Amino acid sequence: MLLLTDDAGEGQRLQRALGAAQACEVVALDDALKHKPEHSAIACLASFDPETTEQLREALSHHRTDPRIPVLFLMRDSSLYASTQAEALGATALLPSDASDDQIIAAARRMAEVVVDPAPQTARTESVLEADVAEIGAALVELMQAAKENRQIPLGLLDQGAERLVTSMRRTGIRQWLDFVRRHDDLTYQHCLLVAGLVAGFASRLGIAPGSQKMLAQAALVHDIGKASIPRHILHKTGLLSADEMALIRRHPADGHALLTGQRGIDARVLAVVRHHHEYLDGSGYPDRLRASQIPDFVRLVTVCDIYAALVERRTYKPPIAPAQAQAMLVAMGGKLDQGLVAAFGRLVAEM
Ligand SMILES: [Fe+2]
Ligand SMILES: [Fe+2]
Repeated sequence: MLLLTDDAGEGQRLQRALGAAQACEVVALDDALKHKPEHSAIACLASFDPETTEQLREALSHHRTDPRIPVLFLMRDSSLYASTQAEALGATALLPSDASDDQIIAAARRMAEVVVDPAPQTARTESVLEADVAEIGAALVELMQAAKENRQIPLGLLDQGAERLVTSMRRTGIRQWLDFVRRHDDLTYQHCLLVAGLVAGFASRLGIAPGSQKMLAQAALVHDIGKASIPRHILHKTGLLSADEMALIRRHPADGHALLTGQRGIDARVLAVVRHHHEYLDGSGYPDRLRASQIPDFVRLVTVCDIYAALVERRTYKPPIAPAQAQAMLVAMGGKLDQGLVAAFGRLVAEM
């Protein structure tokens, strides 16, 4: 069982009581999203001020991967407001937080009797992922098509796609996302979906604020939008590219930037990512040969994820590279990349 709490001291006392019925792990609400969802019963002990309630909502949507997972709320007050909040968050049982040990043990035993079969849960994760990827992929296809036809870019779709991506990443985790996207060969814009998943997962791991996570997800989804007009036979060419073809491909950051500049409501940081995701800290990148101090952190983050995704992808002209080897290649790029970020990324890769 998992006990989510905003009070470590009170949590420990309850852990002892709950633990008498089934093994109980206490997780601080602040850290809830960093833990994998792997418990078949959840207890919550927290107040219902707006901020904590929001944290609880996020934590539960992350950990309660199956609606059959029971959720016990340990209530500090018995007001109608508190019980309404608990029920709105999905409580299946309520108990006063100062209930006797016997009452708590009995409640934990009842929760232990609810057996959630992991197999349907896996199937459910797959179908949730499938729906998420389908929606985000459809948004991406539409965005790229609009870019290709020089139409107004549907920024509302980009916003919805980024929002869904961040939620999906929280719900199912980065590894499942990558596995799913990589397994499905027929997905259009697989590279953008991989980069977007890596960026959203990495940003969440770094504890970046939710608003910035969403901006980064938007940026990752459209980072290669400048490739929309490049013929597929050039993008997927197996032989060496001619100088002209190479020049065409290298135009995509500036082309993408030009395309999005002037679209009302686009975040300036998204524009910076689109233009600068191929810049290197030593000034050897393109299109503006920026150097370290000119490249913001959020651009560096996308660059690391972009290179990693390109390495682990299967492309027509190369087999996929194993995660550990791809990570070693990022390290070997030395001063071109932010090695502090690369090291943090490596810790994520090690868990994937
Ligand atoms: Fe690119
Ligand atoms: Fe890319």
